[in-house]
Amino acid sequence: MRILGIESSCDETAASVLEMSEDTRRILSNVVASQVDTHALYGGVVPEIASRAHIEAVSGVVENALQEAGVTMADIDAIGVTNAPGLIGSLLVGVSFAKGLAFAHGKPLVAVNHIKGHAAAAYLANPELHAPFCALVVSGGHTSLYDVQNPTSYVEIGGTRDDAAGEAFDKVGRVMGLPYPGGAAMDRLAQAGFDHGHGDMFKFPSPAVNDDSYDYSFSGLKTAVINQIHTTRQRLSLPDDGALPEDIREGIAASFTRVVVDGICAKLRRAIRERHIQELVLAGGVAANSHLRRGIAAVAQECGIRLTVPPLSLCGDNAAMIAAQTYFEVIAGKFADTFLNAYASDEQAAFV
Ligand code: KG4
Ligand code: ZN
Repeated sequence: MRILGIESSCDETAASVLEMSEDTRRILSNVVASQVDTHALYGGVVPEIASRAHIEAVSGVVENALQEAGVTMADIDAIGVTNAPGLIGSLLVGVSFAKGLAFAHGKPLVAVNHIKGHAAAAYLANPELHAPFCALVVSGGHTSLYDVQNPTSYVEIGGTRDDAAGEAFDKVGRVMGLPYPGGAAMDRLAQAGFDHGHGDMFKFPSPAVNDDSYDYSFSGLKTAVINQIHTTRQRLSLPDDGALPEDIREGIAASFTRVVVDGICAKLRRAIRERHIQELVLAGGVAANSHLRRGIAAVAQECGIRLTVPPLSLCGDNAAMIAAQTYFEVIAGKFADTFLNAYASDEQAAFV
């Protein structure tokens, strides 16, 4: 089955063609047009600018994805599009485009939840992966643990009560003067910090909620790190946006990263034991973080369970992951029609 996936939930316009069957999972094309340079000027995503950029990019991106795959619309068996969660204006562009395309070419249309999409990237990384599994999705908007009994039904067993991990990485990076989005730069700065022995320079609060849930809370941690940055600037008589000495920047990034990874791993380790998890998927933009990848791999090894983590190219937003989830929605007979709407939150979309 050939699937066209379309993704426009935030600041990436993406389209991908996959060849999928019971024993084939092949990426024929995976095109991503990122708006990150535009939003970097403002220090974060500006929703209206994002919607307008999607409108300009979407038809060219889809055309490129078809061309690179060496197919035309006649060869496509189903079109999948992200319809939740995300920026509503951005989502509406992809959804409207996909509806028009499906209607014009008489193709089945499938609505895909962005978070299920992130986890579905793991099917492409590991041809042996089949539900049931447990999915830890860590992104700009989510830090959630899901019980995936079958490929289309996700039950959240733990999540963040406030900010997501990616949001915390970006905010801390921004206060330290790193360009948006700060995640990848924080990753490198933390590595330098660990290499120079600065991993314990600061003591920050854990994002693991101190109870028997599998929940996280990143807002207290984020505030503590930002306060530390401000206090250090005052102590060194630096201006409010003054550049901190390199060893302190490294120390902050490493100490922050350590507590994030340890906190995420602590809840995960308990979930694996208590829920007898055998198969784990780590996905989402923050799954690109080298320290988190190593931390989760160590937990999986310690608990003796299988782990799939997508390659870096499939961690950030892309449409191959959306097309992969589309395949499983098609197999389950879950189709949308031209009344399909987009939803900013999981709650609005009835996350089942
Ligand atoms: O999944 P994603 O591309 O978009 C959402 O669905 O939110 O995730 C984006 C997030 C951003 O917060 C970005 O800073 C973060 O993923 N990120 C990272 C790394 N690469 C991307 N965070 C930490 N370390 C990284 N290497
Ligand atoms: Zn995402």
